[in-house]
This record gives sequence, structure tokens and C-alpha cells, in this order.
Amino acid sequence: MAAVAPTRDGVALVPRHVAVIMDGNGRWARARALPRQAGHKAGIAPVRLMVEQCAQAGVETLTLFAFSSENWRRPPAEIGALMRLFVEALKREVAELHENGIRLRFIGDLDALGPELNTAIGHAEALTRDNRRMDLVLAVAYGGHWDLAGAARRLAEEVEAGSLESADIDESRFADMLATRDLRPVDLLIRSGGERRISNFLLWDIAYSELYFSDVLWPDFSAGDLEAAFAYFAQRQRRFGRTSDQVVGGGAAEEQQ
Ligand code: FPP
Repeated sequence: MAAVAPTRDGVALVPRHVAVIMDGNGRWARARALPRQAGHKAGIAPVRLMVEQCAQAGVETLTLFAFSSENWRRPPAEIGALMRLFVEALKREVAELHENGIRLRFIGDLDALGPELNTAIGHAEALTRDNRRMDLVLAVAYGGHWDLAGAARRLAEEVEAGSLESADIDESRFADMLATRDLRPVDLLIRSGGERRISNFLLWDIAYSELYFSDVLWPDFSAGDLEAAFAYFAQRQRRFGRTSDQVVGGGAAEEQQ
């Protein structure tokens, strides 16, 4: 982690939580007359690069959208290939991630994944649980709607059980019920592949994120592309509902805590 993180107006210039929608694998493959699976395989290299570069920059949490709730609608062969790719990549990369102080975490409807992937996930989380350099959060079978509905259900269960008064439900209690409960809000959301949409990613957590859209297809996403995203972030004035004058007076810093 950077020893002294650079700030402006009391606000971090390096995003503390970066989230990425890695889009464009299929189009990258089609442009080369390859099967879509080849695009997903080629998408591993920029994941490695992103992890290394974010850790070096002092990012605290990097969350990657690996497979959405809606991706179950894809052809079974593509889903099978993606699941195999996740298992293989996890098994291959986990030791090096551990050596580099990265803590791996997974969010999503993990019960819907096969036993092999769940075993690899359990191993990776257990091995890296005490690492503190950077959290790498993989969103698998994750959807913002899935997360929000789950939080609502858990709150309703507590009310039903008599351990919570409905009048006591506020933003903080709601956030405590999300799969992302331990993560700070997203500072910078990056989407590759040219589309300008959120696609049911971290809906609660991106309320005040800066949004960076790149036309580059994910397998081609480079160190320079990430630097461009960081440069964009560094010149944003983050107001969190306040006025510009208040922010220059130092008011936005507390939102970053
Ligand atoms: C979206 O591109 C990408 C995915 C659904 C899969 C993302 C997976 C990887 C990048 C593999 C590596 C990941 C990890 C964490 C090991 P798309 O298929 O929708 O592309 P298209 O829009 O061009 O069709």
C-alpha cells in the first residue's frame, strides 16, 4: 500500500475501492474468428495486470465482475467453459496472490456454483484471509438485485423473529445485510468494451462512484488504460452532495473514511 496516499482537498487521489466490469471478451474473440471461450481465456492476462497495478498504486479493494446473475442465460457450453476457467485460474494463481499479500474474497450466489469451484473458493479464502495489502473481491453469480433482495429478506427475517424493530431499519442497517457489507463504497467504477451501462453490478455501493467507460475490449485492456482511468479519477471533484466551495474548504474528506 502507498506509504502516504496523495490527496487533494483532503480527498484521496488514488481510488480506495475500484470495481471493474470486464466486458468485450466475446467481441475480441469474434474479431479473430475464435470461439467466445477464447476471449474469456484472453481476459485472464488483464486481470493479472490490474491486480498488480492496483496493489502497487495503493488501491485497498479491487472488485471484479466475473459472472453476473444474468450470465446464467448464456449457452451452457459457454457457462461450463467459464466455470472451468475460474477453477483453473484460481488454482494456478492463488499461491502467487498469497505471496503478494492479496486477500481473496468472493461475493455472489456461491451455492449456485459447482462443488469444484466452491472448494477452490474455500481454499483461496482460507489461505489468504490474513493478507492485508489489497482485497481482491471476485463477484461470481452476483447481481445487484440479488444482493438488495437478499438484504431485504434478511431484515424481514429479523423483524419476524422479533430481534429488530422495523422502525430501526436505516441505511446503515440495510448496508450491513448486503454481501458487500465489509467493503467500503466504490470510488471508481471502470467498464471496458464500449457499453455505457451498469448491468446490475454493485447497485448500492456505486451511489457516489466516479464512472469511467473505456471502448477497449477487455482482453486488450492495458496498464495505460488503467492509468487513464486513474488520471480521470484524480481530476474529479467529489462533492457527495455538498457544494464546490464546501469541498474546497475540506468538507468531503469525512465521506472518504
Ligand atoms: C463479459 O464479456 C465477460 C464475462 C462474462 C466473463 C469475464 C471473465 C473473465 C475476464 C475471465 C477471467 C476472470 C477471472 C476473475 C479469473 P462478454 O462475453 O459479454 O463480451 P461481449 O460483450 O464482447 O460479448
